[in-house]
Amino acid sequence: MSTTTPARLGEGIDRVDARVKTGGRAEYATDAAYPGLAHAVLVQSTIAAGRITALDTAAAEAAPGVLTVISHQNVPVLHEAPDRSSSLPPPPLRDDRIRHHGQTVAVVVADTFEQATEAARLVRVEYAADAPVADLDHPDAEHDQDPFGTDGETGDVDKALEAAPVRVERTYRTAANTNNPMGPFATVACWEGDHLTVHDCTQGPSRTRADLAATLGVPPEAVRVLAPYLGGGFGAGLRTWGHTVLAAVAARQVGRPVKLALTRKQMFTSVGHRPDTKQTVRIGATRDGRITALEHRAWQSLSMADGNYEPVSHTSQSSYASPNITTRDVQVRLNVPAPGSMRAPGDAQGNYALECALDELAHELGMDPLELRRRNYADEHPITGQQWSSNDLRACYETGAEMFGWARRDPEPRSMRRGRTLIGYGMAGTSFFFYQADCAARVTVRADGGAVVESAGMDLGTGTYTVMTQLAAELLGLPVDGVRMVMGDSSLPAAPSAGGSGLTGAMGTAVHTASRHLLRSFLDLVRDDAESPLRGVASDAVRAEDGRIVRTDDGRGEAYTAILARHGRDALSAEGSAESPGQDGAVVPTGPYAAKFAEVHVDRDLGVIRVARLVTAAHCGRVLNEKTARSQLVGGTVGGIGMALLEETVTEPHTGRIANPTLGDYLVAVNADIPRLDVRFVGRPDPTNPNGTKGCGELGIPGTAAAIANAVFHATGVRVRRLPIRIEDVL
Ligand code: MOS
Repeated sequence: MSTTTPARLGEGIDRVDARVKTGGRAEYATDAAYPGLAHAVLVQSTIAAGRITALDTAAAEAAPGVLTVISHQNVPVLHEAPDRSSSLPPPPLRDDRIRHHGQTVAVVVADTFEQATEAARLVRVEYAADAPVADLDHPDAEHDQDPFGTDGETGDVDKALEAAPVRVERTYRTAANTNNPMGPFATVACWEGDHLTVHDCTQGPSRTRADLAATLGVPPEAVRVLAPYLGGGFGAGLRTWGHTVLAAVAARQVGRPVKLALTRKQMFTSVGHRPDTKQTVRIGATRDGRITALEHRAWQSLSMADGNYEPVSHTSQSSYASPNITTRDVQVRLNVPAPGSMRAPGDAQGNYALECALDELAHELGMDPLELRRRNYADEHPITGQQWSSNDLRACYETGAEMFGWARRDPEPRSMRRGRTLIGYGMAGTSFFFYQADCAARVTVRADGGAVVESAGMDLGTGTYTVMTQLAAELLGLPVDGVRMVMGDSSLPAAPSAGGSGLTGAMGTAVHTASRHLLRSFLDLVRDDAESPLRGVASDAVRAEDGRIVRTDDGRGEAYTAILARHGRDALSAEGSAESPGQDGAVVPTGPYAAKFAEVHVDRDLGVIRVARLVTAAHCGRVLNEKTARSQLVGGTVGGIGMALLEETVTEPHTGRIANPTLGDYLVAVNADIPRLDVRFVGRPDPTNPNGTKGCGELGIPGTAAAIANAVFHATGVRVRRLPIRIEDVL
């Protein structure tokens, strides 16, 4: 597209950061270059539970180029996060206890990466090992009930289930999955006096700054975190991990800038993962398919000394109408690495169990699964009775079914086939959670007529640079190439992390507010200016267009440049902020919705399962950029296909060791696994924020695995209640 023609908001323009990225000019954390940069390498435990009995660093310290070796024996005081469910896992190297396999036990700092790597092999660690508690069903595992305070209840599920003419009670399991962004995480830390600069793979520079300051015991103003670009995150960048803290500690200790880059294998133990789950769903219904009782219980794994916010059963509180609902979450403490968010945390697993159970109910009733969902559409929040800010799930059902050709489905399992290929159609609905945190932004218009928009939030590859540029261009009446978006720097106005599908709503609202404030500042400047046609005009009586502020009554106005020139200003700036909307009012802000329809082909003899096509109809409110939003849905769907059929982090129960920490052994979907993915956006703008947006970043994931699992049942007649679904499950 030509950047000289003003782009309409919503239009799928190319990413504004496309050239800088594809041209190799985007600075990632690992690119940060400092004179005298030293390199840190982790030493990790080879047991999953127990104690360090001896740690000998003499040989490592004597190795060429080694500057220091830091372990629990000499690490400076690191402060614990007060809140166990915070973004900050317990500090690294805190004591001699081992809580998971691959736990960091030392960090070696040397002149070069090779020297540090070699010296890390020379650190001698002896352990007293205990038997690990490493699987979800382990009888000795400690359970935390209602860990997030999100359990919910209305009516009496037990009584309603007993009275229900039709009942489905099933247990489902989902495997642990590991975030595998293309770019392994790395940190470069540099102290200048008491001031720390950190280049980090984080999805939240403001968050990381606060976490580092708290851990190191320094004021937040003394820390600057930079993350202008990130090679993907999928949620791994939502917590401040030990390697980031250790890079800062090491840099201070050696008095030089330090780089700490994780290997791919270390990514499996050091930056979180999607915890595995066991879930039971019990549904009671009438013969005509009205749900009268819905109970969803979830058990998910957690590390020994950590908290992580990830409600799994919560999605069943708001997905379908039912007078009786109970949801319960339990976290199970295991000797595994600390989990973290991984794309659609909680909902990814919870939606899978709920939507498969609904499919089982439909089969039980002899009813079309789509019709069952139509009949149980929730007109209001089933537990609180609140009105939805907007919920066009029904439009998703109808549009998706039409696009897919759902009507061609023969309801009988194993009835649709072509030669040795069994064909299955499956669908699922998704009601995704709402999340939006406080955010600030600053908007500046310069004397040359260009604008700069600044916010500490970052773009993890989703398109935030682009949509915020488009939004500011529209709000300020400027061409897209007249606006420069600056992000990923904690010294800019504070922003929440890029996560929970919440940044576009938060930052978009802040940019909206800042833009309104900026127009008001321009009007303030000309309030008594006899030469200005805008003199004394109120800010609600103007609009911005073509680089000008114009009166809505008579269309007279003047250019930003003219006002700034006449008043001798280089630029004019304004800040704006957005607060997290309350969720206790009569109207509850709603997240996005989607209906997904999958066709799978299963080889009758070999059991090979292939997704043949997948259709998504999504209600994401107002879409700011059709192309980047679509890419989010498509990319998420690819992750969902991986979750359904390929991805599994295998922990050996007797050793607690992750058996497949490589991209050769941990299978992610590749091009050959991915069919045509159709996405269409339907439904209304959402009134919760002034831009009408809903989150869409994670909507590709939930619903995808369930639609595929339901299609596998339809193709084969075999109900597999565990992810990933494997060849041997359907033979
Ligand atoms: Mo997403 S798991 O909120 O990066």
